[in-house]
Amino acid sequence: MWSKFDRNGGLFIAAALGFFFIGGLITTVEPPLLDKSWATPLAGLKDYATLAKSGDTGAQQIMQGRSIYVREGCWYCHTQQTRTIEADTIRSGWRDVRSPVSTPDEFVYDKPHMFGTRRVGPDLSRVGGKYDRQWHVTHFRDPRSLVPGSVMPPFPWIVNDPQELDALIAYVQSLGRAKEWRPAHDYEQ
Ligand code: HEC
Repeated sequence: MWSKFDRNGGLFIAAALGFFFIGGLITTVEPPLLDKSWATPLAGLKDYATLAKSGDTGAQQIMQGRSIYVREGCWYCHTQQTRTIEADTIRSGWRDVRSPVSTPDEFVYDKPHMFGTRRVGPDLSRVGGKYDRQWHVTHFRDPRSLVPGSVMPPFPWIVNDPQELDALIAYVQSLGRAKEWRPAHDYEQ
């Protein structure tokens, strides 16, 4: 009976699509239905988009920074997810402190999410508070002055626009804040 699949291309494709569909249901549709924590925001998570609409100037600045992050294509080179592998928690961590793994309840308000696709540069899911403002200013102006050999391009047009610079830094400093794991090791609150 199974040899039919070997000889019948149409049947094979239909079966492959069927299994793909079932796989999609099991891995993406079913989990949030069974585990409500996926769609429940973390206690410390801020809905900056809604806060910005309600007139919160700090949140407005962060949302402007986010749109600059999208506009400049930072997400082509940077992901925003600390995966469950040890190397990720060390890289996203702080000296000897390992960072927590990213969970869906951290991205509830993230529309669209900024998971990214490639890691040309390091993951930024826990970068908020890692460096101080001056570091970011210098880094955006000329990444190689801080990290020799860096392939991150300089962004002088952002550094020369005080409003955009403040917004982008506010956004970067807001990343990964919902899980408080580095209170004693924070450059900028
Ligand atoms: C062409 C790829 C590329 C693009 C585009 C890019 N970066 Fe980077 N970025 C890198 C690389 C590579 C590094 C690691 C070397 C370094 O620190 O310069 C890095 C490092 C960083 C770091 C330090 C991370 C850490 O943990 O040390 C931050 C913050 C950062 N980038 C933010 C940004 C922002 C914001 C943008 C958009 C305005 C951006 N990057 C665009 C490649 C890129």
